[in-house]
Amino acid sequence: MARHLITSAIPYINGIKHLGNLVGSQLPADLYARYLRARGHEVMFICATDEHGTPAELAAAKAGKPVADYCAEMHAVQKTLAEGFRLSFDHFGRSSSARNHALTQHFARRLAEHGLIAEVTEQQVYSPTDGRFLPDRYIVGTCPACGYANARGDQCENCTKQLEPRDLINPRSAISGATDLEVRTTRHLYLRQSLLRDRLRAWITSRTDWPVLSTSIALKWLDDGEGLQDRGITRDLTWGVPVQFPGAPWQGMEGKVFYVWFDAPIEYIAGTAEWADAHGLPDAAWRRWWRTDEGANDVRYTQFMGKDNVPFHTLSFPATILGSGEPWKLVDYIKSFNYLNYDGGQFSTSQGRGVFMDQALALLPADYWRWWLLSHAPETSDTEFTWENFQVSVNKDLADVLGNLVSRVTKFCRSKFGEAVPAGGEGGPREAGLAADLAARIRAYEGHLEAIEVRKAAAELRAIWVAGNEYLQAAAPWSVVKTDPDTAAAQTRLALNLIRLYAVLSRPFIPDAAETMMAALGCTDWTWPDDVPAALAILSPGHAFATPDVLFRKVTDEERADWQARFSGTRT
Ligand code: 2FM
Ligand code: ZN
Repeated sequence: MARHLITSAIPYINGIKHLGNLVGSQLPADLYARYLRARGHEVMFICATDEHGTPAELAAAKAGKPVADYCAEMHAVQKTLAEGFRLSFDHFGRSSSARNHALTQHFARRLAEHGLIAEVTEQQVYSPTDGRFLPDRYIVGTCPACGYANARGDQCENCTKQLEPRDLINPRSAISGATDLEVRTTRHLYLRQSLLRDRLRAWITSRTDWPVLSTSIALKWLDDGEGLQDRGITRDLTWGVPVQFPGAPWQGMEGKVFYVWFDAPIEYIAGTAEWADAHGLPDAAWRRWWRTDEGANDVRYTQFMGKDNVPFHTLSFPATILGSGEPWKLVDYIKSFNYLNYDGGQFSTSQGRGVFMDQALALLPADYWRWWLLSHAPETSDTEFTWENFQVSVNKDLADVLGNLVSRVTKFCRSKFGEAVPAGGEGGPREAGLAADLAARIRAYEGHLEAIEVRKAAAELRAIWVAGNEYLQAAAPWSVVKTDPDTAAAQTRLALNLIRLYAVLSRPFIPDAAETMMAALGCTDWTWPDDVPAALAILSPGHAFATPDVLFRKVTDEERADWQARFSGTRT
């Protein structure tokens, strides 16, 4: 038994996430957490909402609510949706928590004590109308290169040219449209991460088992220098973690908060502290996951995220940890994902394009989505969601292969032997062959899950379901029963045990269906099948069961067409 710390990238607070967000971190993290728990490991699985920054402020303003209220409401919405998708977080925290405020300020102070914070005076655009400094991308104007009228101060999205706000012709505030912009002097804290380059390089190159996607992005940023430029970690905003706090090693930073990307990953630690608080546990309970001097040396820490998040997790956050000079746990393994596209284009939160978590659950239960998303996870390249593909997966894998086996076996048993595991007969070479085949496949399945090869694990699980169907087809107890009821009884007994085996194995992917299967079998034994022949004999003769309702229904062609049309536009 090992100890596993698992974190999923924390979703931004502004708005409900789409299925592309879900499959890029939270859902595969949940698969891994569920698998490790099923194998008896001690797991701490943390996620949270990422609540700071200008987008949160603007979304709140748009909703006409104080930002704290907006965040509290949206946190509750995201938490409910996470539960709807059966994401089994030990804690779903908030980056705006008191714990994160304290830890963020703690890290900043430690970094300063190690000479890693510089105070830099800058000129920045101020909007008197808005009463605030404007971040680069909230200044819009005409692109000097292509003449596009709505270019942002950091980049023109028409010609992709990187811009500085001062390059824009006729600049104005993206918030109010005000044109009376001024340049004012302001002071910010910079994290001198360039001083940590050698230590970061040594650490990254020592992680030889990382997936190529994670390492290559990390090294690219490290080597071309861009990612390791000293970085401003404060902003002129009101919503966030205050930079000026009692005991701060700097003065005159009132009215400033830490940059959202500085405090967000610290929330992984703070979220674990929030977990302890929520359970009335002492600090030692969370620190044993995070402090290598307090027990975290034997913890394996795995992070899940989309590829755009990799530089922050391979460079910035480790710079915070290493620079603190304190024995905090660094990540052991980074599992990163490419993008999921939607029906010929991109999922887009800003444009409301694609299927969002609340919409998905209104159409079908979580397991249908979990299965499609995980079995098509964008691991080696970007992948695409199409309604055709979704329909095929649901109807074939879930309804025809798994669901059909469950209903066929239970109904057949009920009609010939009654609703209890039948006695009599014994297995022969066919049954031994099935057990051997399953044992090999289950070991492969475990290997894929341990390596977090999500698609390979899904394919193996499906092959495990198919093997049972093929056995049943070949054994044909519905024919055998006419001439040899004892043998048919043994076959049926095995098939009922297969359902239990499938419930245990499938639970990380489709937890609700697994529980329905187990409940129908009147069984609570979730023991992992280390010994497959033994696992296939757990339900013994006389054990009562109930024939379950349809496990998975099919998606009809009409529904597919209807959903495709309904979700072809943008969400309003
Ligand atoms: O990309 C995003 O959705 C960010 N909110 C992820 C933050 S992950 C972390 F650092 F906490
Ligand atoms: Zn342009």
